Amino acid sequence: MNKLILRGRVLTFVEEPTSIDDQSAYNYFEDGAVLVEDGKIVDVGEYAAIAPVAADAKIVDHRPNLIMPGFIDTHLHFPQTQAIASYGAQLLEWLNTYIFVEEQKFSSTAHADFIAGRFMDELLRNGTTSAVAYCSVHRESVDAYFTAAEQRGMLMIGGKVMMDRNAPDALRDTPQSGYDDTKALIAKWHGRGRAHYAISPRFAITSTPRQMEMSQALVREHPECYVQTHLSENRDEIAFATSLYPSAKDYTDIYAGYCLLGEKMLLGHCIFLSDREISVLAETKSVAVFCPTSNLFLGSGLFDRDRFRSLGARISVATDVGGGTSFSMLETMSEAYKVLHVQGQRLSPFASYYMMTLGNARALGLEDRIGSLRTGGDADIVVLDSKAKPAMELRMRTATTLAEELFILQTMGDDRSVAEVYVAGKPMKSRIDTATPQVKA
Ligand code: GUN
Ligand code: FE
Repeated sequence: MNKLILRGRVLTFVEEPTSIDDQSAYNYFEDGAVLVEDGKIVDVGEYAAIAPVAADAKIVDHRPNLIMPGFIDTHLHFPQTQAIASYGAQLLEWLNTYIFVEEQKFSSTAHADFIAGRFMDELLRNGTTSAVAYCSVHRESVDAYFTAAEQRGMLMIGGKVMMDRNAPDALRDTPQSGYDDTKALIAKWHGRGRAHYAISPRFAITSTPRQMEMSQALVREHPECYVQTHLSENRDEIAFATSLYPSAKDYTDIYAGYCLLGEKMLLGHCIFLSDREISVLAETKSVAVFCPTSNLFLGSGLFDRDRFRSLGARISVATDVGGGTSFSMLETMSEAYKVLHVQGQRLSPFASYYMMTLGNARALGLEDRIGSLRTGGDADIVVLDSKAKPAMELRMRTATTLAEELFILQTMGDDRSVAEVYVAGKPMKSRIDTATPQVKA
């Protein structure tokens, strides 16, 4: 028997909420059910309507917990899993002091395999079922990454970082080897199971013009792949990047000059862009990735969401581990709320849950597969407990609306609020806890 009914309070978005009162943006079933068969969602609705037509299904009763689509993280670094909370430096110093040291460990396949497994489990523990990550410069790190994802059945996007200057010798590729390795990895992984490849020139500072040309060739030859890089995160970074490409109008124009922008492009950070640059992102349908915990932790700056909105540019949201400080999308949205609040911008709880589910799926063009609970979609599902911590339970006693509950869950919750997580219909929580106990034996 492979039919499964998940019973609980089901919440899923169909549109971006326009206000906190916009009930047309989501479907909510107080006594709801999701019917799953062979890793796919067959039906979503009232439990009373679904149970009789699937009498042969196994029922898992998650009441009173919330059942939602698995979270999606659109930018993080798998080799930085053990570099979270590296003290006291802004971007360029932080990269040189901590990150470029850490990433050298991934020349060891044993290390890459170990961290890849723990990385996927950490995502799942936090309710994130799909993510877009940078691997290290080493080909083998990409094998480790996609193998760990495949073992868990996860839809993951990623790629080998390319960098051929301004990094230690041990972390540099060449324009040719970066191209060749990326080609080989795309052939091996893109479209295998649920894997998607992301062509990943790290940023303008670490790629020579020749490597940018090779990236352009890769993007032209592989329009099916994603592209990811970093843009306008830190003032010293902007000055250095633009000094390396003196003929570019601005930082964005460096990437535009190599035809890297487009609807598959994910640009991390985008904090200090001019209106001209944001308009270029809008015209090319590129995605600006908001990384609140990272932008605060590295002292980078505040993402101005409303300016992207008014200029019609696409945005997504992400943890950016290990510049980001948490794998939890709940904690990430809690910081997103504060980053916007301090600028006088509002982020409603509904908009927040939209962003980490359907919003991010749309940014990836994967809304037919993930990011919502809909017939025919992949059964990647998170079950959330709004009373997971004593302080949350106490606070929840005074909550009267779904909006309040969602906001409490986001503001006070973390991995402890994830009661269960399903990947392609398979419950993963017990497996994570067995495979990777929280405390070393
Ligand atoms: N810019 C270039 N590389 C990185 C990185 O690894 N993390 C962050 N936050 N910014 C970057
Ligand atoms: Fe990053």
